[in-house]
Amino acid sequence: MVLSSPRGTNDVFGEDIKYRDFIINSAKDLFRLFNYSEIITPAFEHTEVFDRGIGKSTDIVKKEMYTFTDKKGRSLTLRPEGTASVVRAIIEHKMYSEKIPVKLFYIGNMFRYERPQKGRMREFSQLGVEAAGVAEPFIDAEVIWILNSIFDRIGFRNLKLMINSVGCEKCRRDYIRVFKSYIKPEVESFCPDCKVRYDTNPLRIFDCKVEQCKKIIEGSPKIYQHICADCREHILKVCHYLEKMGINYFIKEELVRGFDYYTGTIFEIISDDLESVQNALGGGGRYDNLIAQFGGPPMPSIGFAIGIDRTILLMRQLNIKYLTKELKSAAYIALLSDKFYDTGLKVTKLLRENNIPCDISYKVRPLSSQIKTAVRDGFSHFIAIGDDEIKTGVFNVKNLEKHTQFKLNINDSSKNISAVFRSSL
Ligand code: HAM
Repeated sequence: MVLSSPRGTNDVFGEDIKYRDFIINSAKDLFRLFNYSEIITPAFEHTEVFDRGIGKSTDIVKKEMYTFTDKKGRSLTLRPEGTASVVRAIIEHKMYSEKIPVKLFYIGNMFRYERPQKGRMREFSQLGVEAAGVAEPFIDAEVIWILNSIFDRIGFRNLKLMINSVGCEKCRRDYIRVFKSYIKPEVESFCPDCKVRYDTNPLRIFDCKVEQCKKIIEGSPKIYQHICADCREHILKVCHYLEKMGINYFIKEELVRGFDYYTGTIFEIISDDLESVQNALGGGGRYDNLIAQFGGPPMPSIGFAIGIDRTILLMRQLNIKYLTKELKSAAYIALLSDKFYDTGLKVTKLLRENNIPCDISYKVRPLSSQIKTAVRDGFSHFIAIGDDEIKTGVFNVKNLEKHTQFKLNINDSSKNISAVFRSSL
């Protein structure tokens, strides 16, 4: 039997790696511009990190976590997202004692036991940022600016940025009272999950995908209309800065996002072009109480994450090409006889030492078929090794794109070798 990768996972290779590198490099350039530094957290954490961080009544914690017991009986969970781990790390290493805000970015694989479909996987990659220790609305807009710029640099033009405020603890309490009394007469018509949510965490009813539940809450009061004066002032300031930054957005009053840690500003970027079950490319929000709830100091914070796999999907769909940073001068070295391996090794070593990517034909084959391989695989240059070349130490380098050629003397200095290759581009 041929083994395949587990359902909902992917092998990423070939062109997808180039897309992925392009997305990651574009984001990293921006993270540097905005003064964020990288953090790498473990792929698994104590289950409690997510139970407490994300919230026990969220779909992620209730249904989607890969939780296991290790050999010492500890409950561990593969991370379903990055925020809770970063918060745990900020507190554990007292990062706030060095400087505030703590501005971190991360890139990593996440794991959620969801029903796999196009654009929705059980293992997927995210990149994201967390800025901890700033309450001012300016940083909300700045974080959204980074998110927006990443997609802008990639070349997406028709994305929609949705914003909402889920209020602070106080206004949420008031709103939940209003919301519950509105839906009370319909409780019996809810799905079993929403019946429980009604008692434990009514805001989560907005995450429900069941049509009947969606219908019941369609005309219900939305939290945006019930936020307190401070929360209103905050979100209006965020909107003001976004306008100054030239970022288009719209307020989506029913947006809640599926994490209990959010307070105040939340946002999501979607694409109507994405042929996927879910159209969100990225999202995030404020979590002003989470660090204190984890035992850290009060540190109002905000962040976002982007789904790398969905971003690749949309780039491919819209035919957006990644800009490759690879050297165009990649050489294919063809061996015309078994006895030329030693010389082939010498040439490849010389080129690689001079930062010129190259590959060698591991098998001896006719010259014409080797040229075909080099063209098919996108090499710009071709070097054949035969008796004459070995005698003289001088090789003919064909430029396969321009149909020109030049001589390469392997006894030349490194400077000369790089220069002749560069001048042939
Ligand atoms: P999230 O909205 O759950 O937010 O995930 C962010 C992005 O990850 C989504 O917009 C989507 O592109 C991608 N994504 C999520 N689930 C899957 C999946 N099953 N398959 C493929 N892609 C997926 C968070 O994770 C928060 N931690 C964001 C945040 C950071 N909030 C504050 N700071």
